[in-house]
Amino acid sequence: MTASRLRVKEVAKGLKGVQRMASRRDFLTLSAATLLGGRIALPSSTSIRAEQIKKEALRKKLATDPQRPRYHLMPPANWMNDPNGPIFWKGQYHMFYQHNPNGAFPESMHWGHAVSPDLVHWKHLSIALSPTPGGPDKDGCWSGCAVVDRAIPTIVYTGVFPQVQCLARSDDGMMNWRKDPGNPVIAAPPQGMETTGFRDPCVWRERDEWFLAIGSGIKGESGMVLLYRSRDLIYWDYLHLLCKGRKDELLPGNDPVSTGEMWECPDFFPLADKHALIVSTLGAGRYVNQYFHPEIQGKADLGDSYYAPRSMLDEKGRRILWGWLREGRSEAAQRAAGWAGVMSLPRVLTLGHEGALSMAPASEIEVLRGRHQRFEGLPILPSSISPLKSVRGDSLEIQAEFEPGACQAVGLTVRSTPDGKEQTSITYNRTSGNLLVERERSSLSPDVERGSSGGPFALAGDETLKLHVFLDASVIEIFANDRACLTSRVYPLRPDSLGLGMFARGDKARLKTLNVWEMRPISPNRLTA
Ligand code: FRU
Repeated sequence: MTASRLRVKEVAKGLKGVQRMASRRDFLTLSAATLLGGRIALPSSTSIRAEQIKKEALRKKLATDPQRPRYHLMPPANWMNDPNGPIFWKGQYHMFYQHNPNGAFPESMHWGHAVSPDLVHWKHLSIALSPTPGGPDKDGCWSGCAVVDRAIPTIVYTGVFPQVQCLARSDDGMMNWRKDPGNPVIAAPPQGMETTGFRDPCVWRERDEWFLAIGSGIKGESGMVLLYRSRDLIYWDYLHLLCKGRKDELLPGNDPVSTGEMWECPDFFPLADKHALIVSTLGAGRYVNQYFHPEIQGKADLGDSYYAPRSMLDEKGRRILWGWLREGRSEAAQRAAGWAGVMSLPRVLTLGHEGALSMAPASEIEVLRGRHQRFEGLPILPSSISPLKSVRGDSLEIQAEFEPGACQAVGLTVRSTPDGKEQTSITYNRTSGNLLVERERSSLSPDVERGSSGGPFALAGDETLKLHVFLDASVIEIFANDRACLTSRVYPLRPDSLGLGMFARGDKARLKTLNVWEMRPISPNRLTA
């Protein structure tokens, strides 16, 4: 997860590529300047027309782009990163996200906004928060959360620069947001603390008080989460550290996020009889007298694509986690595509074996299932790929159960061309105890991440391997045996990279069952949802 953060920073640098449209902020600044000068310069009808033509061309390109997912939530165009303030309110799921409406690169963060009745089909609403020139969020409205305060939906977010905490409220059912005139409500980290960052508030209520956890850290020490308390969301008292990392867990490097000296996006919530804290690592533990004592730690996702997860509680009492799936291709390719960043599928969290967090895709996604095929009891011979010839697709849900026997590795190949020149393997390596997405041959493009992504995963005794895989254009989301998730991005170039197969290495294995569904898109043109 920390590695992915580093990438985002790299992506932010050295911008070149497709032409940039005037940002909302440029526009506001320009309007203010021209008004002050006593003249109002309106854009000419030719330039408006040119803008419209450009927008229409982009829409067409996005609607037919084979790499653009069809059933994952994403903005209508341009850049997105972290999920922000997901909240279930008045029968609907609201999702906000870090968004640059001016291009597929991370700059001038806004809060995009979408709403769904069912966690699957979304409607885009207008942008909820934009930077205010001269305000504490002039350089961006960074990540945060949403709560309902005496029936008023309220966003708590980080304004930059410097990093300060701000409030915005909505009086019209979350359509428009007014920023608190007293912003910032927290203007600086606690006195005397030299932090590596101070951002991404997570707010919750306990009896008649509000609590706020904020991501931070100290150079050379560790990442940490600061805890604040308030009666009204406006005046906050710093209490103490909710939790802090360990110095001996720091990794080498210069960027405090990748070394672990800065914890971004804390998400803190009760789960069964424990509490869970998600930062760059994930763990469950006890929350006693406003201190969190981790008992178990792990990674939310074994891949390097999933980042900054945030959760919501819904009316069924489910704790649902969303994450940002970052791109795995060059900055130039992202800009040229006109979109970057995808929201993960909703993952329902429960407390699993020995208090570990376990995640399963929300069952609502099943409404997208189309044509179904089932296979049973197929032997898998070692050292070759057995294609499942009747199955093709880049928009599939796959549930496979394998008996690994004595093989060294077993798994699925997805997105394969008939000649295997492009293919991706989802591999359980028994020998090394890892679950991997092997991407050496995923794409003929020179512009994409290669190599394996994944991490430790082992089966007990005669446990079967259960892979639940979602393919959606360039996205692969994998749930393994209800206890591990692995997300990856692949960008095959050939239109026939649609094959599915299975393989075993070292010895034979057996496919117990395989169910495959073709998945329907969530909107006809991939732009309206
Ligand atoms: C995490 C993050 C947050 C910050 C936001 C800015 O990806 O760096 O810490 O608020 O993105 O877009």
